[in-house]
Amino acid sequence: MTHMSIEWEADADLVVIGGGVAGLTAARTASLRGLRVLTLSKGGATDTSTQYAQGGIAVVAPHGDSVESHVQDTVEAGAGLCDAAAVRSIVEGGQAAVAALTDLGAVFDLGRDGQISRTREGGHSTRRIIHAGGDATGAEVQRALNAAGLPVLFGAAACEILTDGNGVQGVLAVSDKGFGVVHAPAVLLATGGLGQLYALSTNPPGATADGIALALWAGASVSDLEFVQFHPTVLYTPGGVGRRPLISEAVRGEGAILVDSEGDSVTAGIHPRGDLAPRDVVSRAIAARMRALGTDHVYLDARAIDGFAQRFPTITASCLAAGLDPSTDLIPVAPAAHYQCGGVVTDTSGRTAVPGLYAAGEVARTGLHGANRLASNSLLEGLVVGERVGAAAAERLGAHTRVTEVSTRTTEYVDRDVLQELMTTHASVVRDGAGLAEALKRLADAVTPSTTASTLSERIAGIEDAALTLAARTLLLAAGARTESRGCHTRSDHPDADPRLRHSISLTLDERGRPQAAS
Ligand code: FAD
Ligand code: SIN
Repeated sequence: MTHMSIEWEADADLVVIGGGVAGLTAARTASLRGLRVLTLSKGGATDTSTQYAQGGIAVVAPHGDSVESHVQDTVEAGAGLCDAAAVRSIVEGGQAAVAALTDLGAVFDLGRDGQISRTREGGHSTRRIIHAGGDATGAEVQRALNAAGLPVLFGAAACEILTDGNGVQGVLAVSDKGFGVVHAPAVLLATGGLGQLYALSTNPPGATADGIALALWAGASVSDLEFVQFHPTVLYTPGGVGRRPLISEAVRGEGAILVDSEGDSVTAGIHPRGDLAPRDVVSRAIAARMRALGTDHVYLDARAIDGFAQRFPTITASCLAAGLDPSTDLIPVAPAAHYQCGGVVTDTSGRTAVPGLYAAGEVARTGLHGANRLASNSLLEGLVVGERVGAAAAERLGAHTRVTEVSTRTTEYVDRDVLQELMTTHASVVRDGAGLAEALKRLADAVTPSTTASTLSERIAGIEDAALTLAARTLLLAAGARTESRGCHTRSDHPDADPRLRHSISLTLDERGRPQAAS
């Protein structure tokens, strides 16, 4: 640790790190309860995964649906690793959470009967996904939350959670004013996912696993990190890298079918739900077909969907930008990294094992998703758990000791291109033990200590690179230890599920800052 000089300070009862669905929902709830809340966001108001969500929010429908059915679909997708009590608790909270969002001004699409319209996605036994703007659900959720006018410090990145013997005491952050401390007894990690571990992802550039690293450095544990969900249908364009446009599963929910370059179905005979099987099943089927045919994509045939452009305006725009018209052309698609099913271990009110440290949204592991998240359960989780954190944080009032001295840790990182290449080659849809070990070794060989950065963007990139490096190591360790195939973790050298591994793998840091199995 090195002593450092602090250029600005602020005080709060709760610091929220992240301005997506989970962070802003928590910030709003806590503010309504009278807490002084400050939200930090390293990007702008729409630089979130929330902004890009398409399909919608899974919430039990008033007719022809039940909590039981939604729980059952979630648990089935989760392949033996869901926490049944957490699933029930979060699913039960769905309708109230959506009502709160509607009260805030979010507008959802209505059907011809004037009732909220519901679509279907993979793994759901019924049409229960509510949506907005056709395929722009996330943009509407983000708009409504941004419009609540909560205080957010944009362009401010959290670098370290400050703790003492009584738990959390604040956050070290960097902004255009330099390094600063926000003193607070409670901190919420709502930093989103880790899609940038991979060369191709649906996630925005800021999805760099910061919350995973911040939690591990603070002494919390992470679980189920090996379960990275690869979305089956991401628009394929030759040579495309970075954030790729998603073709929502709702497109298949409305009748599109997956075909290969010979025109044959990709999922026939693989699962009773065919193209609407859970995501891991469909991604594996596509990866296998691509391997068999020696291609790098398959196709989505959406030509039979009436009014495609009205129902899916965002997707239509992405296709048109790539020179494709979904009403007449097949859409080339391939799987890409989409969602982190595991994360920082919490209860269903976002509490971690570190007093005063909370996590919610994609960064957290509540037990809702298990080994594979059911489509559209993420916005649901962010809304429900976000609100509960906003209420729970009040329990930390009075637990504050003001930190007087701040030190920074020495971090290490691997060049981002090298890291993404290693993870994409060895830890994608299908993995094996040799590849995972090779990636871990090459990461260790390529690691260098972080250098002193001077501009804000260099400083933020440094935090991100250190976080990506630690998250990659942790994920590879967990994936190597899971010598079976389960949910979205597929091992070609262990193709079956092993009943002895029907439990989560948890990791923490040892005294040298290296990930290790949690005791
Ligand atoms: P995000 O919305 O990603 O917000 C993270 C925030 O943290 C950002 O403000 C970021 O700037 C900030 N941040 C990160 N690190 C730091 C740091 N160090 N310091 C300060 N700030 C930091 N889910 C569904 O349920 N339904 C869908 O239809 C759906 N469609 C999707 C489509 C796409 C293309 C993508 C990418 C995801 C989709 N998902 C969907 C998943 C869902 O959108 C995300 O899981 C969810 O929005 C994550 O919300 P969050 O609040 O956890 O994080
Ligand atoms: C989609 O619209 O296919 C994405 C839904 C999700 O990730 O939950």
